[in-house]
Amino acid sequence: MTAEQTGSGPSAATGEPLVVLDGVQKWYGDLHVLQDINLTVHRGEVVVVIGPSGSGKSTLCRAINRLETIDEGTISLDGQPLPAEGKALASLRAEVGMVFQSFNLFAHKTILENVTLGPIKVRGVKKAEADQHAMELLERVGVAHQAEKYPAQLSGGQQQRVAIARALAMEPKVMLFDEPTSALDPEMIKEVLDVMVDLAKRGMTMVVVTHEMGFARTAADRVVFMSDGAIVEENTPEEFFTNPSSERAQDFLSKILKH
Ligand SMILES: Nc1ncnc2c1ncn2[C@@H]1O[C@H](COP(=O)(O)OP(=O)(O)OP(=O)(O)O)[C@@H](O)[C@H]1O
Ligand SMILES: [Mg+2]
Repeated sequence: MTAEQTGSGPSAATGEPLVVLDGVQKWYGDLHVLQDINLTVHRGEVVVVIGPSGSGKSTLCRAINRLETIDEGTISLDGQPLPAEGKALASLRAEVGMVFQSFNLFAHKTILENVTLGPIKVRGVKKAEADQHAMELLERVGVAHQAEKYPAQLSGGQQQRVAIARALAMEPKVMLFDEPTSALDPEMIKEVLDVMVDLAKRGMTMVVVTHEMGFARTAADRVVFMSDGAIVEENTPEEFFTNPSSERAQDFLSKILKH
């Protein structure tokens, strides 16, 4: 089932803090890639992160998922600070779903197996139960009829919807999306965004790096604009796109609106 982009507006973000970044700093050598990042994402909230190439958006996502370490500050998920390593990290990582630009599906596993692998291996779910849940998710993202195929037999848009189903199968508390549609042909972008809008409407907490303004306006509660490793501006989508307050955001928007 996919949702229409009706422009009905974001759901009210009334939940308690779920992801909290407090004074996060990170350097790559001399490059100060995350500069004193303070960001709270509430349960049920959809935050769109936007900004020029190299501004640190992917690094921010990867830090939240602990794929990257940070040098200073803290990141906590549902009240728990991110553990540095070990079993606690693995279980916490399972609570964060991540969808990247490239689909990263396992080429030699079927679509169904791609979705059930995590629940069976990491969560210890029984195969029959994992299969049933996976089929429900594949149904939801509109690719259930492809369950027995292999990733290469699917279009990019279909593969990305499978990647979303695979992340959801772990029942994450928050979903991170890093430019999930930027590698797709234009006609496939909408089918993926529809799935994401549907997810947002169902109350999923989401951090989405994207330049898709239609999605931001439809689904985001808040837009965070990053530049040179810092959060320069935070605003409602409406306000951000029509009346950005910082010069850097104005400059960035004038560029992406032109093409
Ligand atoms: N492993 C790394 N080692 C050194 N520098 C890195 C590494 N990863 C990223 N960087 C640098 O950190 C900066 C931020 O990169 P990041 O990928 O977070 O940007 P981004 O905002 O996601 O950009 P894009 O829109 O192009 O995806 C860039 O200058 C990049 O070159
Ligand atoms: Mg990036």
